[in-house]
Amino acid sequence: MYDKGKVITGIVLFVIVFTFPFWINVGKANIAPEPKINPEVAGKVCVEDKAFMKANHMQLLDEWRDSVVRDGNRTYMGGTGRYEMSLTNSCMGCHNNKAQFCDSCHNYVSLTPNCWNCHIESKENTNG
Ligand code: HEC
Ligand code: HEC
Ligand code: HEC
Repeated sequence: MYDKGKVITGIVLFVIVFTFPFWINVGKANIAPEPKINPEVAGKVCVEDKAFMKANHMQLLDEWRDSVVRDGNRTYMGGTGRYEMSLTNSCMGCHNNKAQFCDSCHNYVSLTPNCWNCHIESKENTNG
């Protein structure tokens, strides 16, 4: 015969010890970033759809810069309309909460783009 209570306690202990590395991190560094959309533009659309922006905004910004600096073209025909190709006026015009939006993701991947050495963060909110 065996002691049912001890077996169950053993199983419970095993599960706790075995999964410890996973749940010890809950609420800590593993939290996925939650970029906050500025409430003033919530419900609007980005210059391209959300999935595209999430994956490709870096390349898009490079294209915008090249188009403006090399070709002098400042108008972008996006999937959702016509936009001025400007980091400050367009991107940061809508996403004026850089700390809660751009930085929330970038901090997660330990990335500090140097764009803000030269470009103004936001017209309304210059300190974050
Ligand atoms: C007209 C306002 C507007 C402009 C201009 C704009 N965005 Fe957005 N952006 C939004 C909105 C609204 C969403 C959320 C879309 C949704 O939820 O479907 C969004 C979504 C995003 C996302 C995805 C966020 C996520 O949670 O995955 C990224 C990244 C992003 N924008 C970056 C940019 C960049 C970079 C620029 C400039 C090239 C830009 N946006 C220009 C309004 C704008
Ligand atoms: C949904 C998360 C998310 C949001 C929101 C977001 N980014 Fe990013 N961004 C990333 C990730 C992840 C990378 C790194 C991608 C890689 O290395 O392939 C990145 C890379 C970049 C880069 C390239 C930097 C470099 O040095 O290579 C730029 C520029 C950039 N983001 C600008 C912005 C701006 C401006 C905003 C706010 C308007 C923004 N991002 C919002 C996730 C995000
Ligand atoms: C050393 C200074 C400097 C740095 C750093 C820099 N830029 Fe620029 N950028 C400029 C200048 C100058 C222009 C030309 C401005 C104009 O003609 O309107 C420009 C133009 C642009 C443009 C098109 C016009 C505009 O005003 O937005 C985009 C988009 C852009 N840069 C994106 C970026 C991104 C993204 C980063 C970071 C990965 C970055 N830049 C880093 C100086 C810089």
